[in-house]
Amino acid sequence: MSKVKIFQPVEQKKREAAAAPATDSGAFHAVVDSRRSVRVYADDPIPTEVMDACLDAALKAPNSSNLQAWEMHHVVDPKKKAALVEACLSQPAAGTAAELVVFVGRPDLWKRNNDWMLQALNRLDNAPKSALQYYKKITPLAYDQGWMGWRTPFKWAITRWRGLSRPYPREPIGKWGMRMWVHKSTSLACAHYMLAMRAHGFDTCPMEGMDSARVKNILSLPRQAVITMVISAGKRAEGGVYGERMRFDSSHFIHRH
Ligand SMILES: Cc1cc2nc3c(=O)[nH]c(=O)nc-3n(C[C@H](O)[C@H](O)[C@H](O)COP(=O)(O)O)c2cc1C
Repeated sequence: MSKVKIFQPVEQKKREAAAAPATDSGAFHAVVDSRRSVRVYADDPIPTEVMDACLDAALKAPNSSNLQAWEMHHVVDPKKKAALVEACLSQPAAGTAAELVVFVGRPDLWKRNNDWMLQALNRLDNAPKSALQYYKKITPLAYDQGWMGWRTPFKWAITRWRGLSRPYPREPIGKWGMRMWVHKSTSLACAHYMLAMRAHGFDTCPMEGMDSARVKNILSLPRQAVITMVISAGKRAEGGVYGERMRFDSSHFIHRH
């Protein structure tokens, strides 16, 4: 593991900040502050180019090992859309929406994507050795749970034993661990998508109030796929935001150690 660059300590010397693209923090906070979960939308459609830009923003979310074990299912077929609204328990946030996208985690596809990553690296003229090493050695150790999860008890035992004497990466372990693993990255894609929508002047509502088995059925997804959220989008209607934003005092949640 020590051969992989991201796990190597950097030289202890003074480091200057590198040039990074300029950003507009005011614009960013305006987007964050004005994003609200919208339960009733106006009839306005969302232009295709906005949908494309926001889905593209979702794909730029940070994700574990850059394995992109996610899918975004934009449901446009009217029959499927009606079925999806029903699977979302006929919530107005789904029923009145211009667009519905299902964010799906695909723990079953980590190996395919790992192979894609190795192929992409091998196409580079000078692929970093540590990156190749990472996708050949580390990711299989981390994500391969074995057929029917047979590695799970061994991973669990090895992790605990090795972790006694040194820092050792503990998760993901087993099929449930892999589900959690995809939920983390897919949730970040959801956040990117919702903020991008707001930046384009549209609104969203994330929904886990839905029947995930039915949603998977509508999208013909395999058993191993996990539904992270369904996100509706459109222009907020008058009264479509249910009240002021409520948050508990930040002192409960932000801890400094
Ligand atoms: C994982 C998740 C699931 C949610 N599910 C629903 C839902 O099924 N229906 C709904 O109306 N809102 C849903 N919400 C929206 C939350 O209720 C909302 O984010 C919260 O009340 C805070 O309001 P705000 O988003 O306007 O800041 C969900 C949010 C998240 C993150």
